[in-house]
Amino acid sequence: MSQSDVKNAPPETPTPNSTTPEGSATWSIRPASEDDVQKVSEIDHQIQPSFWTAQQFAEEMNKPYSRFLVVTDDETDELISGYLVFWIFLDEVQVHTIGVAPSFRGQGFAKRLLKQAIREGLQANCRQVSLEVRKGNLAAIQLYQGLGFTITQVRKGFYTDGEDAYQMCLSLIGKDPFQLD
Ligand SMILES: CC(C)(COP(=O)(O)OP(=O)(O)OC[C@H]1O[C@@H](n2cnc3c(N)ncnc32)[C@H](O)[C@@H]1OP(=O)(O)O)[C@@H](O)C(=O)NCCC(=O)NCCS
Repeated sequence: MSQSDVKNAPPETPTPNSTTPEGSATWSIRPASEDDVQKVSEIDHQIQPSFWTAQQFAEEMNKPYSRFLVVTDDETDELISGYLVFWIFLDEVQVHTIGVAPSFRGQGFAKRLLKQAIREGLQANCRQVSLEVRKGNLAAIQLYQGLGFTITQVRKGFYTDGEDAYQMCLSLIGKDPFQLD
């Protein structure tokens, strides 16, 4: 599926009243554009131990099975609070990277992004969502467990710095997209 096809994916149900430190704002999830790549890679560099380069994010836009979403403010559509890259590969959603800028955490943005990936996976008849997470990343592990993911495997020395990963999976079989809202 191309990035333009992704634009036709059903949008998540808007959640009003997300707030920024500067005041009230609403936020939406949309497919990333080329203009977003530099900003996303700057956030990623700031928050991820194994960050991606701008080129790596840009390359995702050319992969037919990759979907790259950003959360932007409705007023300017330019301020990015969070991002998610996932693949729809065969019958599986594979989450590759997710991040929320530090000043926008705790407002449900990561949960909204993952629910959108789950929705798109259900639409594509996927059977499960899978991902790897650092064993020490408790915030992310709690995020995934809160959405129903379970740990299915320990991957020893998965990361380049030697840290182990948990593989976590969420079954989509029999899941109702309307129960995600
Ligand atoms: C992990 C991360 C994406 C969470 O983003 P967020 O937008 O703040 O998360 P949400 O507000 O959607 O939180 C959803 C749930 O995640 C869990 N969670 C989020 N932050 C947490 C924290 N600091 N400690 C414990 N649990 C946390 C909670 O269960 C939360 O549910 P609740 O609000 O009902 O308690 C964000 O902290 C981040 O970008 N971290 C750095 C990058 C990263 O680790 N990415 C994941 C790689 S696998």
